[in-house]
Amino acid sequence: MPEQYRALQGFKDILPEEQPYWRFIENTASEIASLYGYQRIETPLLEETSVFRRTSGEGTDIVEHEMYSFDDRADKEGRRQNISLRPEGTASVVRAYLEHGMFKMAQPVKLYYMSMPMFRRERPQAGRLREHHQFGCEALGESDPAIDAELIGMLYQIYTNLGLKNIRVNVNSIGDHNCRPQYIEKLKAYYEPLLAECCNDCQTRFSKNPLRLLDCKNPQDQAKIAAAPRITDNLCEPCQEHFDTVKRYLAFYDVPFEIDTLIVRGLDYYTRTVFEFTSEIDKVALNGGGRYDGMAEIFGGPHTPGIGFGVGIERVILELKRQGIVPPQRRNRAPLWPTLGRARK
Ligand code: HAM
Repeated sequence: MPEQYRALQGFKDILPEEQPYWRFIENTASEIASLYGYQRIETPLLEETSVFRRTSGEGTDIVEHEMYSFDDRADKEGRRQNISLRPEGTASVVRAYLEHGMFKMAQPVKLYYMSMPMFRRERPQAGRLREHHQFGCEALGESDPAIDAELIGMLYQIYTNLGLKNIRVNVNSIGDHNCRPQYIEKLKAYYEPLLAECCNDCQTRFSKNPLRLLDCKNPQDQAKIAAAPRITDNLCEPCQEHFDTVKRYLAFYDVPFEIDTLIVRGLDYYTRTVFEFTSEIDKVALNGGGRYDGMAEIFGGPHTPGIGFGVGIERVILELKRQGIVPPQRRNRAPLWPTLGRARK
C-alpha cells in the first residue's frame, strides 16, 4: 500500500473486531453515569480557539504545541475567525452550560459525553494518539467536597464493573488562587539554585509553568522533585479542609486511593482536587480529572464551581486486553421483522 493511502500518523481506524470493546465501555459507563444523574451532552468538534486557549492556559503543551488551529474562510465582512479542533472536552461543556443558561437550572447540572474525539498533535509514541476519544463527566454548580468523592467513587465503580483489577486511584489537591501563588514562589525559590542542572524542559517550565516542574519524567531530575516542597504542606485552611473532607468521603465510598503530591495535571484550569487513575503495571493514566472552580468566570459567566474527568477510551481498551477481559457477547435481538421471518418458513 503506497504511503499516501495510510491513515495519518497518530490517527487510527476502529475496525469491526474492535467494536465490542467500544460498546462494552460505552454501555457500562453510560448506564452508571445515568444512575448518578448525569445526562448526555454533545458539543461541536470545532470551537473558537480562545475557548481552549483561555481555559487550558497559554503555557501548556496543549495550547503551545498541540492544537490543530486554523483561520476559517472569511465571512461577508472579510473577518476571519481562528478555530480549533477540540483538544479536550471540559471547556466546551462549560461554554455550552453558560450559553444555554444552565446556571438557572437546579444545581448541580451533571453532564456526560461519550466517545467524543479529541485532537492533540502530540509527539508520536506508544499510548499517545493524535486523535483519541474520551468518555467524560462534568458536575457543574456544586462546591461541596461530597461531589468530588461521589464522582471519583462513580468512576471507580465503572472500572470495577468493566472487570478491571489493580487500578490505582491517585488523588491530590493543588490549592486555589489564595494558596497556590505562594506555593509556586516557594517552589521557584527551591529550584532557582538547581536550575543549571535541570533538563531543558524544566528550564522552560520554571518561567512558563512552574507547577509542571513536578511532572518532569527525566531521570536526572527525580531526586530534585522528591526533595521539593509539597503543595499539600502549603494549602490554605479552606483548601485543606476541602481536601480532608474529600479523603474522608472517599473512604466512605470504599475507594482504595493514594495521595500523590506530584499530580499537577497538564491543563491550567484546575483548582483544589485533582486525580488520575493509572494501571498498576505500566503507570499509564487511564483518566484524568479535577475541580475547575474558576472556569465559568473566564468565559464571563457567574462563579460556578465544577468538577469532572475524562477517560481515554483507547487506553482503557488496551488495559482490558492486557488483563484478558473479553467484552460480553451481545444478547440476541428479536428479529426486526418477525412477520417476514415467519413468512419465509
Ligand atoms: P487529560 O488528562 O488531558 O484531561 O485527558 C484525559 C485522558 O484522555 C487521559 O488520562 C488519557 O487517558 C486520555 N488521553 C489524553 N491524551 C491522549 C492521547 N494523546 N492519546 C491517547 N489518550 C489520551 C482532560 O482532557 C480533561 N478535560 C479531563 C477533565 C474533565 N477534567 C475535568 N473534567
